[in-house]
Order: sequence, then structure tokens, then C-alpha cells
Amino acid sequence: MHAAPQLVLGFESSCDETGVALCTTEGTILGQALHSQIAMHKDYGGVVPELASRDHIRRLIPLMNQVLADSGKTLHDVDAVAVTTGPGLPGALMAGNAFATSLAMGLGKPVIPVHHLEGHLLSPLLSANPPKFPFTALLVSGGHSQLMAVEGLGQYTLLGETLDDAAGEAFDKTAKMIGLPYPGGPALSALAEQGDPTRFKLPRPMLHSGNFDFSFSGLKTAVLTTAMKLAGVAQPTETMVLNPQDKADLCASFQAAIVEVLVKKSIAATRESQHQRLVVAGGVGANRLLRAQLTEAASKRGIQVYFPELSLCTDNGAMIAFAAALRLKANPSLLSQRNYSMQTRPRCPLQTAL
Ligand code: KG4
Ligand code: ZN
Repeated sequence: MHAAPQLVLGFESSCDETGVALCTTEGTILGQALHSQIAMHKDYGGVVPELASRDHIRRLIPLMNQVLADSGKTLHDVDAVAVTTGPGLPGALMAGNAFATSLAMGLGKPVIPVHHLEGHLLSPLLSANPPKFPFTALLVSGGHSQLMAVEGLGQYTLLGETLDDAAGEAFDKTAKMIGLPYPGGPALSALAEQGDPTRFKLPRPMLHSGNFDFSFSGLKTAVLTTAMKLAGVAQPTETMVLNPQDKADLCASFQAAIVEVLVKKSIAATRESQHQRLVVAGGVGANRLLRAQLTEAASKRGIQVYFPELSLCTDNGAMIAFAAALRLKANPSLLSQRNYSMQTRPRCPLQTAL
């Protein structure tokens, strides 16, 4: 007879989304709820860490209650609590960790720490058409830009990462420079559709670096210099005022540069890892040009590309509950763990957390 699956209640609060989800050790999400703080941070042009922490505190309990009600469960049905311990904003992580740890202690259940990037890496397995292991993952969000070889649960090798800005951060900062609203990625890419991607010759940073690392801050500076010339100013102003066609052409040229680097490096990393599958995760995975060019480049090489639905690519509680549920299934002794003195780890490479 099979034992009944265990239930894991997971919390995500590493940045500007509060996510809660209930997942079984069979990998089924019974309920999930998410609150995005984008509207709150919009007026400031970016995430304000102190506001983020306070908002997580406000949202955690109502979201948890909603998840339990939607799943038809109560706290007494929960076998383990899971929480993102890092990387992320220190105060935001602390809000989720203090809550999850106290809850677990009160329930007399274990709390399972989850590395945020492991959540992202495993989240494609929750999609309707999940990739099989092994695969190469391109993780491109506002906070991360990494290429990872994913051989199986807990078997992740970092192939390369950004040396400065994350890809989404480069989109956001560039967009801000030319007066587009936060988050800049969607606004910039929408405008790029009306522009000429060949008009400005922008650098393709590290395209021929011979490794899988990225660097996007030089590209951002090249956009700044071009925008200053177009705006006829000698010093950068907070936002450069450009005529609409120049702005669209600059967006298109920037997007073409960043996408070319992401596509070439992702395909090369997949080939070097001898994988047949490439999975894209993170908010930048919504970019239409990236999707089109990756699909085209991959099909020429016999590589299958997976773009999980965006709700799985961006931060959410389901990926945290799911990662912990897989760990619990693989290692049932976690159920008897009672460590309530967990440390949040705002900066920590994935390898050190496993
Ligand atoms: O994964 P995500 O929702 O949040 C984290 O950073 O964890 O990613 C958000 C990032 C933002 O930088 C946003 O500008 C970018 O993803 N983004 C895009 C697009 N949609 C969202 N970047 C380029 N093109 C898009 N269509
Ligand atoms: Zn994330």
C-alpha cells in the first residue's frame, strides 16, 4: 500500500511578489495565490526594498488563508512548510522566513529552506508539457541571468552568468533612461516592434568571450551615449527626451543586441552540455523576439525549446512548494527535521545551498 502524499505549504517573498502554494509530494499543486507589488513600486521607477518587506508582511496571511480555502485544507493538514531563504532582498526574505518558521514551529512541523533559483529551475516541470531531465536552462529575470545544466533533482551546474546587470535589469534600466515606465521590459519590447533594429550598431557584449558569461552594463552605456547624441545633450539627464521614431529604433536595436547574445550563448551552452532540451525561465522569457529567435536557432540544431507559461516563469509560490515537495519525496527524513534557526541568505550561489 502506498503512503498518502504529504502536503507542503510554500512561501516566496524574495523580491516584489508574495507567493503561497500548497503542493503534494506527488508534485500536484492543490492551490496557489500570488500578489505582485508592481503597482506599488511603479511610482518609484523600481523596487523599494523597505516597502517590499512591509507589503509581504501584510499579504502572507491572507494569501495563505486563500490557498488553504481553495484547496479545501486546513493548517492541520500541512506536513511541512517551505520558504525561500535566498537569494533576494534581505528584508523581504526575512519577512517570509520569520513567518514561515514561526508557523512551522507552532504546528510542530519541519520548515524546508528553498533556494530561489532551484525553484525557478524546477518550475518548468509544473507546465502542461514538462521537459524531461536533463536540460539546459536559461534563467533570465529582473534579478538573475544564468545558464545552468540541469541533470536531475539537486544536480545543477552553473555554466555561466552575468558579470553585472541581469538581462531584465538591463531592459528596465535602459527603458527608464528613455522615459518608459517600470517594469521597462514589456514597454521597451512593445516599442521595439515599431523600430528598426539595424539602425544603431550597438555592442554584443561578450558574444565571443569563449564562455557562457554575460555582461549587459556596457550595452546600457552604449544606449545612453546614443540617446544623448539623439537628444542633443552633453550630460545625461534623468530621462532623455527623444523623438518617437528614434526612440523606437533605439529600443529595437537594444533588443536585437541583447537577444542575439542570449540566443547564441544558450544554444552553445545546450550543445556543450550535450542536451537536447533548452528551457527558458524568468520574466524576460516573455520577450517575443527572444522566443522567435531561440525557436529558430534551436530547430536548426535539433534542440527542443520549452517556454513554460509566464505565470511559472516569474516569481511564484508554486515553484517553492514544488521544489520542497520534490526534496521531501526524495528524502523523507526531512519530515523529522526541526531546525527553526534558519538563516536568510540574500546572496548565495545555488551550489552552496544544496
Ligand atoms: O522573473 P520576473 O518576473 O521577476 C524577477 O525579476 O524575479 O522578471 C521580471 C523581469 C523585469 O526586468 C521585466 O522588465 C522583464 O522581466 N520582462 C521582460 C519582458 N517582460 C518582462 N523583458 C523583456 N521583454 C519582455 N517582454
Ligand atoms: Zn526570481
